[in-house]
Formats: sequence, C-alpha cells, structure tokens
Amino acid sequence: MALLRINNVSKHFGGLVANRDVSFDVDQDEVVGLIGPNGAGKTTLFNCIAGFYPVTSGTVVFDGQDITPLRDFQVARMGLARTFQIFQASGDLKVVENVMVGSFMRTGSRGSARRAALEVMEFLGIAETAGEMMTELPVAAQKRVALATALASDPKLLLLDEVGAGLNPSEIDGLIALLQRIHTERGVALLLTEHVLEMVMKLSHRVIVLESGQKIAEGEPAQVVKDPEVVRAYLGDHYVKRQKEGGDA
Ligand SMILES: Nc1ncnc2c1ncn2[C@@H]1O[C@H](COP(=O)(O)OP(=O)(O)OP(=O)(O)O)[C@@H](O)[C@H]1O
Ligand SMILES: [Mg+2]
Repeated sequence: MALLRINNVSKHFGGLVANRDVSFDVDQDEVVGLIGPNGAGKTTLFNCIAGFYPVTSGTVVFDGQDITPLRDFQVARMGLARTFQIFQASGDLKVVENVMVGSFMRTGSRGSARRAALEVMEFLGIAETAGEMMTELPVAAQKRVALATALASDPKLLLLDEVGAGLNPSEIDGLIALLQRIHTERGVALLLTEHVLEMVMKLSHRVIVLESGQKIAEGEPAQVVKDPEVVRAYLGDHYVKRQKEGGDA
C-alpha cells in the first residue's frame, strides 16, 4: 500500500485551475521529485496535500486514511510534515524553541519536546546554534532549522518545497547528503519540489512533472529528462545539450 496516494486532485482559485486531475503515489521507501515551470502548481499541490488548502475535487489518502477533509495541524499529527517555500523566521524565538514547535506535534511535555528537538538538531549538525536567535542566523542555517522543525515532528513523509533555493553549490552538496541521511537513517519518505535539478536527479527514485497544473510525465529521473514533452515544457534544449556534452545532471 502506498504511503501517500493522490487521486485526481484539482484545485481552482476562482477561474484559475492551479491543479487539474493530478494522481500519483509515494511509497514509504521512496524519494519522489516534483518538478515543472514556475506557476505549474507544485506549491499548491503541497498545500492541498498538507491540509493548508481544501481541494476542489479529488482525494488524498495518507497512511491508509482519507485525509482530504483534514486541516494542516491534523495532517501534521498523523506524520506528514512540510517545509515552506518562503520561510519566515519567528523573530523572538531561539533556534531550539523554533524546532520544539515541531516536536510538540508528538508530545505535550516541554522536557521531551526539548530533548527531541536537540536530538534532531544534533543529527542535522546544528546543535551549537540552539541558543541563538532565529533572526541572527544566515539564510542557509535558517533553512536547516526549518528542516529540523519539520523533522522534529517525527514524520513518515516530508514535503520539501524548494529547500535548495538560494544555496551555493557546496551548500547544495551538503543538503543532498543530509536529505539522503534523513531518508535512509530515519526512514522518512520524501516528496520534493525543486528547481535545482541536480538535487532532484541525485535524490529521486521517481520524478513527476507538472505543467499548467497537470501531470505531463512520471518515471525514473534519467527517463523523464529525455522525454520530449518535459524538454519542451520545462528543461529546454539547453539542459539536453549539456547532458550530451557530458555535463552534470
Ligand atoms: N492562494 C492563491 N490564490 C490565487 N492563486 C494562487 C494561489 N496560490 C497559487 N496561485 C496560482 O496558482 C498557480 C500555481 O502556483 P504555485 O505557486 O502552486 O506554482 P509553483 O509550481 O509552486 O511555482 P514556483 O516554481 O514558482 O514555486 C499560479 O498561477 C499561482 O498564481
Ligand atoms: Mg512553488
């Protein structure tokens, strides 16, 4: 049984169709990439899955339960966590307090929330920032705290919305390694949207491509990037040419 099953999900904003009949699964042992041009509907789909937006039609099943009518906090308690494309640091929180917002999803005790937060921060290599104020951290570090906060809820599935955006190449390499460890060592399934294609290609077992709200391709990364429809809609000839010249994926 799939961990996440998205069945014909559509999302309309007035006359604008942001998602149209999107269907796919994510298994517990998978990393799935969701790619497509700006405005394709990737973030909207995340918002529908995570209970931030009600869907217009279709269903979302998570861990054997129909979560379509559930709200964001209910979905989060079931073990479906997400990061936000636009991360806003809460001004007067220390790093550890920010991460505890995640661990309070699974415990009511302040002590165990703090312990869980510190364990996750240790795992992500940011334990030494525990006492710093969120707003004092550089962007890359703030993003890692956002990841820690999502992970502190002990999710089965993590939705990652452009966690690589704005990072330099060595930070990207570090993030790829970290996400691989989150998947293999903590057993968390990942669904990630990303314009940093190198991340998608290196991490994903399977890639879904959205264009204008619709799924136009699905398959193994190496196959999908050769699909003429995907090249037309998103990758462009430039990417294909680089591949032929033996450039990096
Ligand atoms: N709350 C909203 N109200 C109205 N329209 C919205 C809303 N959120 C998104 N949209 C529209 O839905 C479409 C899909 O947007 P979405 O943010 O999901 O795209 P995306 O694939 O995440 O793009 P990007 O790669 O730039 O992050 C766009 O046309 C966008 O303007
Ligand atoms: Mg987006």
